[in-house]
Amino acid sequence: MKNKDKVSVLFVCLGNICRSPTAEAVFRKKVVDAKLNDRFFIDSAGTAGYHIGASPDARAIDKGNLRGYDLTSIRARKVSMDDYLEFDYIIAMDNQNLAYLNAHKANIDSAIIQLMRQPSGATTEKLDVPDPYYGGEQGFDEVLDILEKAAQHLLNDIQLNDLAH
Ligand code: 4NP
Repeated sequence: MKNKDKVSVLFVCLGNICRSPTAEAVFRKKVVDAKLNDRFFIDSAGTAGYHIGASPDARAIDKGNLRGYDLTSIRARKVSMDDYLEFDYIIAMDNQNLAYLNAHKANIDSAIIQLMRQPSGATTEKLDVPDPYYGGEQGFDEVLDILEKAAQHLLNDIQLNDLAH
């Protein structure tokens, strides 16, 4: 995939109102800060349809806003079959999302489907971004901490593998 004009990245969680819209906003800001805005198409979706059309959870909007991320224009949608064809990368927030994505991709193998938190160093543990929905507000800060690190790793990897320098 070297030298692609545009790389498309879809972030996926269960409801598309907490983790994946946060990942979308965090990754978008990193891309803008790196002046790579015109090289990316970025979106998010959920594996469940519970919240289709809804804005992100108010706690995700507020906690994100405190760190300079704007989630307000995002509306929840469900993953569709077209996504497997349209996106270069489909990034799952947890192992349950990853299993869903792999189970529903049929015979479409063009997208790279992987976890947001990649094993690093000696660790082979497949780490989840924990679901903050039923917990307190501090869970949303924890999600932001995790996503800020993971988004930087993802951007570095894509720059190395897909973008011309
Ligand atoms: P998300 O969090 O997958 O990070 O958006 C959730 C949002 C809603 C529900 C579960 C998780 N729910 O069961 O409605």
